[in-house]
Amino acid sequence: MSIRRLWRSSPAPSPLRGTLEVPGDKSITHRALMISSLASGRSLVANANLGEDCRATASLLELLGAAITSDEANYQVEVEGRGVGGLREPEHVLDAGNSGTTMRTILGLCAGVEGLSVVTGDATLLRRPMLRVVAPLRQMGARIEGRAFGDRAPLAIRGGDLSGVDLRLPIASAQVKTAVLLAGLHATGPTTLIEPGASRDHTERMLAAAGARLRVESNRIRLEPTPALSAMTWDVPGDISSAAFLLVAAAIVDGSDLTITNLGLNPSRTGLLDVMSRMGAEIDVRVAGKRFDEPFGDVSVRGSELTGTTIEGAEEIPTLIDELPVVAVLASCAEGETLIRNAQELRVKESDRIDVMCTGLRELGVDCSPEPDGMRIRGPSVFKGAEVDARGDHRAAMSFAVAGLRSEEPVVVKGWSSVSTSFPEFLDLLGRAQGRYG
Ligand code: S3P
Repeated sequence: MSIRRLWRSSPAPSPLRGTLEVPGDKSITHRALMISSLASGRSLVANANLGEDCRATASLLELLGAAITSDEANYQVEVEGRGVGGLREPEHVLDAGNSGTTMRTILGLCAGVEGLSVVTGDATLLRRPMLRVVAPLRQMGARIEGRAFGDRAPLAIRGGDLSGVDLRLPIASAQVKTAVLLAGLHATGPTTLIEPGASRDHTERMLAAAGARLRVESNRIRLEPTPALSAMTWDVPGDISSAAFLLVAAAIVDGSDLTITNLGLNPSRTGLLDVMSRMGAEIDVRVAGKRFDEPFGDVSVRGSELTGTTIEGAEEIPTLIDELPVVAVLASCAEGETLIRNAQELRVKESDRIDVMCTGLRELGVDCSPEPDGMRIRGPSVFKGAEVDARGDHRAAMSFAVAGLRSEEPVVVKGWSSVSTSFPEFLDLLGRAQGRYG
């Protein structure tokens, strides 16, 4: 693996100031590409996320028969959809790379494709649990074989002939929910699913916008088989999970005053903003409107004194699950104790994020202890220089870089190349916010 290192030289960095946009939301881009592939006609994904994860989704959809053209300079992707039921058996193995969302959701699409599809991924993805999505798809009639009785990829799936079923999902997971709904579009009867807790709801909003017959009542979703979806223009809002690194950086670097515009503000994703204001960050959120039922708007943050908090529960954790690594950095700068609980899912993300973050933060001098389902952090810390290992996890790498902004000594992040999976523009935007480029 190629490892690029990030160095930050001392002394203290410049504050983050001005107004920025971050690239499009990764979760929404994956879904826009998939739904467009099932639509009738040509869709446009504007402000698409062009990180490696979404590129993996696009290339697998091409193998399944969609025609995809990217205009990278303008962050636009055109998709010629094949209609519901129109994708075809792929000639090649479907390699999802590092992307859990790609692998789990494409399984739902493949369940609706007549014939055999084989999905695989990189070394990290091959270690991540898949039974959560394999089990409900099997209940719908897909035949799936894989390592560990179907809990680990590579997985072979024989699709077609699906029936709608009533499912009670064992865990709240937007990836699993998405896979079941994409399969449900192809089933012979209605699919009903009940989630034990709320997970991000982009799929429901976007499928409904494209004309799927879908009804949501609290944690129960009912989808009727849908013969056709409309081609759409998806103007993707900025990714709050990418913005998180810049927002936290602005909150912890004195003198910062940063605004991020056109940011996705779907309430199932905005837990970070609530936690930041609970911790005392000066934060201002303005919802500007909705596109395809997805709220978007502007967020401003100023550096301020922070205090610790408790982050827990089935309501709050899913709304900021991907932001918890950088929240750990925020907590390191806050007065008192921060406790993160009920976040055991962190152990099966791109890395074991509880272990990676606690190990790295301790090397940087933070008083951080791991818990089975979270972590306990006592601040404020004075970060010291160290070499920390993100273990190939993009969100850990960017979190350590944010910590580096508060260190008087150089912080070196190993495993930096992983940043290209979600936010290749991170260093460029950070530099712009710090006034380092024109
Ligand atoms: C995602 C859902 C979340 C999240 C992941 C992206 C998605 O996982 O952590 O990074 O786009 O559906 P869950 O499937 O556990 O909700």
